Amino acid sequence: MSNELTPEPVPEPVAAPPTGSIRRPKATGLAKGPAKPGVAKVDPILIADAVQRRFGGLMAVDVDHVEIPRGAITALIGPNGAGKTTLFNLLCGFDKPNTGTWSFDGKNLAGIPSFKVARMGQVRTFQLTKSLSLLTVLENMKLGAPHQRGEGFWSSLFPFLWRKQDNEIEDKARELLARFKLDAKENDFAASLSGGQRKLLEMARAS
Ligand SMILES: Nc1ncnc2c1ncn2[C@@H]1O[C@H](COP(=O)(O)OP(=O)(O)OP(=O)(O)O)[C@@H](O)[C@H]1O
Ligand SMILES: [Mg+2]
Repeated sequence: MSNELTPEPVPEPVAAPPTGSIRRPKATGLAKGPAKPGVAKVDPILIADAVQRRFGGLMAVDVDHVEIPRGAITALIGPNGAGKTTLFNLLCGFDKPNTGTWSFDGKNLAGIPSFKVARMGQVRTFQLTKSLSLLTVLENMKLGAPHQRGEGFWSSLFPFLWRKQDNEIEDKARELLARFKLDAKENDFAASLSGGQRKLLEMARAS
């Protein structure tokens, strides 16, 4: 068997021009016909249209159209004050735009508050990491489990139900830690992680 990996064709990243407004990219790659052999059909996970956010007289975000490809690491770049954080805040439901619509994985997210956006699968991490330093890496992961039911009526009567749920959460947490190469650190305090490792922990927790 060959050990060679066939590289996946990755769509061109869409970069913001330095004016702070994002214009419609020339080729969005929304394929209309059958994909050419060897060329990935671009299937955007996020599509935003006509998103504007004004602060008084300042137009902080003016996005005509933007698409974020699925399964690719995409960066939004621009100078200080270009509107990157404001756009993130809008798309994640932390702020409301003056105009605009956007969808994530086919679901309309415009006007949906941040906690619901997260439940719909679009999870945000912040530039400054937020982990609980005096809990272990594994404990931090377990706190982030999306479907914790807590100690409900039945699990208080039958502790094995609670243990089963806890074991499932722990298994999932370990699987994610392995994927983000933090499995060797699961019993370390989060405080002992490097900045980059803390970011990885946040991304594992958001997964
Ligand atoms: N809540 C607010 N009220 C008024 N003006 C704001 C507010 N938030 C952002 N702005 C302004 O909107 C513009 C865009 O700010 P934003 O924080 O989105 O920029 P950025 O691209 O994230 O910059 P940086 O690279 O410095 O983080 C800036 O001029 C900023 O002063
Ligand atoms: Mg910013």
